[in-house]
Amino acid sequence: LLFLLAGCQKTSYPVDYEQLSAEERLVIRFSHVVGEDTPKGLAARKFAKLMKERSNGYIEVQIFPNSILYKDGEEMEALSNNDIQMIAPATSKVTSTVPEWSVVDLPFAFDSYEEVHAYMQGKVGRQLIGKFEKQGLVMLGMWDNGFKQLTNREYPINMPADIKGLNMRIMPSDILEQQFELFGASAMKLDFNNVFQSLDNGLIDAQENTLSNIVSKSLHLKQGYMTVSNHGYLGYVLLMNKEFWDGLPENVQLLIQDTLSEVSEWQREIAHQLNEKDLSELEKCDCIQIHNLSEDERQQWEEAFSPVYDFYRGRFGAKYINSLPKIKG
Ligand code: LMR
Repeated sequence: LLFLLAGCQKTSYPVDYEQLSAEERLVIRFSHVVGEDTPKGLAARKFAKLMKERSNGYIEVQIFPNSILYKDGEEMEALSNNDIQMIAPATSKVTSTVPEWSVVDLPFAFDSYEEVHAYMQGKVGRQLIGKFEKQGLVMLGMWDNGFKQLTNREYPINMPADIKGLNMRIMPSDILEQQFELFGASAMKLDFNNVFQSLDNGLIDAQENTLSNIVSKSLHLKQGYMTVSNHGYLGYVLLMNKEFWDGLPENVQLLIQDTLSEVSEWQREIAHQLNEKDLSELEKCDCIQIHNLSEDERQQWEEAFSPVYDFYRGRFGAKYINSLPKIKG
């Protein structure tokens, strides 16, 4: 392998890749928790395919979807140990490693994908990205999924007060916990691959997620009501083990970066389309009752959530909040 790495020219890779044994290839193990036909699953596969083509098969990105290798709570540690080299967790899930990232979880912080992207490219966003280095990680980009909607089993959640008393599944983020406990719900941090079962056996009543996550895991089949609230952004942080990254030859690093930025552009389109398609499927399916928040209701939700902003500010100061597209609280 060392010989091969040393032999890599800036733009060329060994051409006789069919002859390379598994040991001679550069293997990047990429683990994630969602299905293959989701915004993340599709992008991961495209990344693997392009890397193989462009390196003449020298670089093999092995994708492990659906938590088959590591579950939510395990993948960060596996990455730190270099058991896997790449993950793409939701931003909420990196908050146990870099808590300041929970700014992205603040309810109604962003109204559009563009606002999220602009925030991440700005000064404060770049500081958030830089924080991974100290944790032995490198952030190589960000992928979209979509905006979250609320679903519940027995009645519609039209106003925040409707959340009272519900067992709500959340991703592991203190801001998400605050968001629901503020209104008297019990927020439960559960792995994504347990959500369907937990809705099925009644451990949880309700949950928040993007349309593509709801539909790809059939969560709507266990829920009677959905509120199209678009109250929070769900996107992914592309992380690589820093020691592994630093050990890659420059040409491999460049190829990864170029390919990821191309895939990311494609991925955003796909993510937005998939979420739209899933919404129209749910609208047609006659399987869940849908309520779209009116402008007036949305305004009331936003105001009701302002204590969550105070909570964040109390922990991390005003810096990250003040750069949000509209300053809240
Ligand atoms: C979730 O746990 O709901 C999501 O983070 C799953 C995912 O990766 O989209």
